[in-house]
Amino acid sequence: MTGITSSGEKRLVLVTGRSHPELAEAIASELGSELLPCETRTFANGEIYARFDESVRGSDVFVIQSHTAPINEWLMEQLIMVDALKRASAKRITVVAPFYPYARQDKKGRGREPISARLVADLFKAAGANRIMSVDLHAAQIQGFFDGPVDHLFAMPVLMEHFRAKLDPATLTVVSPDMGRVRVADIWSDKLGVPLAIIHKRRDPRVANQVEVREIVGEVEGRVCLLVDDLIDTGRTIAKAAEALKKNGATKVVVGATHAVFSDPAVELLSNEFIDSVVVTDTLPLPPEKRFDKLEILPIAPLIAQAIQAVFDDASVTAMFDGAA
Ligand code: R5P
Repeated sequence: MTGITSSGEKRLVLVTGRSHPELAEAIASELGSELLPCETRTFANGEIYARFDESVRGSDVFVIQSHTAPINEWLMEQLIMVDALKRASAKRITVVAPFYPYARQDKKGRGREPISARLVADLFKAAGANRIMSVDLHAAQIQGFFDGPVDHLFAMPVLMEHFRAKLDPATLTVVSPDMGRVRVADIWSDKLGVPLAIIHKRRDPRVANQVEVREIVGEVEGRVCLLVDDLIDTGRTIAKAAEALKKNGATKVVVGATHAVFSDPAVELLSNEFIDSVVVTDTLPLPPEKRFDKLEILPIAPLIAQAIQAVFDDASVTAMFDGAA
C-alpha cells in the first residue's frame, strides 16, 4: 500500500495537510517512504473536509502540517485530519508541527488575555493526538501544556554547522536580540567558544509588532555579530537590532533563525543595509515573494525525519542533540 512502511508488527504512516507539501515530501523522501494520500478540500462556506484513501488501522501515524498563514485554516485542517485518523483506528497519532502555532501567546502578560498556546495543545489532545513533535518552541515550557509526550527538536545543529563553516570565531560575537533568547544565545556562544552580547528590546504591549532597542550589553565594536532568534515575523526585532549593532561598530551582522514567518514588511526590512546575510530553515514555506538576495535556506527535513524514525523505533530523540539546550 502507498505511504506505509512495515516493520514487524508496526506500520509507519506519514500524512500531510495542504500548507507545505514540499516539506512533507522531503521528510518522506528522507525516510525512504511516501505520503499516504489524503483527500482534503474546503467547502464554499470555509469548512474543511479530510479523508484518507487507505486504511490506517493500527498504524503509527505522523500528521505533518506547517503553520503558515492562513494559520487558523491550517490548524483546523490538522485537527480534522487527526480526528479522522482517530476514528479510523490509528494506533498512535503524532502531530508534527515544525512551527508550533500561537507559541508566542504562552502566558498572560496583562489581565484578561488568553493563553492560546495552551488552547492549541488542548485542541490537539481533544482531536486525538497522542504526542506532538515541534522544532524550536518559542518557550520550552510549552511542552507542559500538552498532556502527553512532546518531542522538542532543535535546529541549532543544522544552523551551527552552516555558521561554523562560514564564520571565524576569532572575530565573532553571538548576539541575543532580546532577553527572551538569552539562554539559547548563551548555548550558541558556549558551543562556538565566542563572546555573547545581549540587546535590551522594548515592546509596547498595546501595539502589535512594535520594537524599540534600548541598549546593547557586551562588546560589539569591530566584531562580526551573529544574531540568533527562534523566529522572524515582521523582521522588526532583527532589523532594529542589526541597525543598533552596526551603529555601535559591528563590522558585519549575520542572522540565524529557525522559523521564517516573514509577514509584511519582513522582506523589505531584512534587505536593509545593516544586515549582511539571513540564514533560516524551511519549517515554513518560502514562496518567491518571501525570498531575497541575502537569504539562505537550510533544509529541516533530515532532522525531522530522523526524529520520526527514532519515535517509530522507540529510540532516543534526546540523543540526537548531544545535550544541546
Ligand atoms: C520574540 O520574543 C521572538 O523571539 C521574535 O524575536 C519576535 O517574535 C520576532 O517578531 P518580529 O520579527 O515581528 O519582530
